[in-house]
Amino acid sequence: MDLKSQVNIDKLPRHVAIIMDGNGRWAKKHGKVRVFGHRNGVKAVRETTEAAAELGIEYLTLYAFSTENWNRPKREVNALMHLLVETIHREIKTLNDNNIRLQAIGDLDKLPEKTKKALLEGIKNTSNNTRMTLVLALNYSGKWEITQAAKALAKDVKNGKISEEDVTDATFEKYLATAGMPDPELLVRTSGEYRLSNFLLWQLAYAEMYFTPVFWPDFTKEEFHKALIDFQGRERRFGKTGDQIKDLE
Ligand code: IPE
Ligand code: IPE
Ligand code: MG
Repeated sequence: MDLKSQVNIDKLPRHVAIIMDGNGRWAKKHGKVRVFGHRNGVKAVRETTEAAAELGIEYLTLYAFSTENWNRPKREVNALMHLLVETIHREIKTLNDNNIRLQAIGDLDKLPEKTKKALLEGIKNTSNNTRMTLVLALNYSGKWEITQAAKALAKDVKNGKISEEDVTDATFEKYLATAGMPDPELLVRTSGEYRLSNFLLWQLAYAEMYFTPVFWPDFTKEEFHKALIDFQGRERRFGKTGDQIKDLE
């Protein structure tokens, strides 16, 4: 069955966000160390990015490393940071060949120097691409993002750049790391966990959530298509009644 042809191109989300979870359990299942799972997760990143770009999705945000992930064993953290450098270096050409722009959200200054450097290089070298934006959430947490936005806003109120009366959710959004991006309409989390883990707390306010038991390294284009088909079958009400939504159609 060709799942791709079942995706309605006219009803695509502009932005899909994914919590890539289950690398460690996938590795365990195969009798391997956790890092082996992370390495195999890269393949799923490539597949998903390709699938999203092929369809014409504008933004794909991937949760790659949370602020809380620093609490993992040092060896695993180092391996992840190294894998990031390696992957970015290797994939820049493919991103350019496919006209995909790389972006990042998170507290990037606290990343190891090498990781930050590779990331900034990747962002710079793909900045003119226009087909899709791939956003990596790195050393990211929703609470961190909202707090730093509040700080920056408070500073601007204090120095008179903006008045307190002009603080609305639209102005607040401009201080978030995702400023200028549409909110994700669809959130996917793999590995059968049902939580947000501090991801895009503001931006997911009205997102549809899709959970799959599939471990991230096993996530394929078909799995991505399944998530989109499920999303397209839902009625998004935004506080209205179902009848009101149907009248609009
Ligand atoms: C997701 O897989 C990758 C990162 C958080 C970096 P995990 O490493 O969380 O895998 P599990 O949840 O332990 O299986
Ligand atoms: C969330 O996964 C973070 C990323 C996918 C990068 P975790 O595996 O770290 O989440 P928790 O700790 O189980 O909630
Ligand atoms: Mg996990």
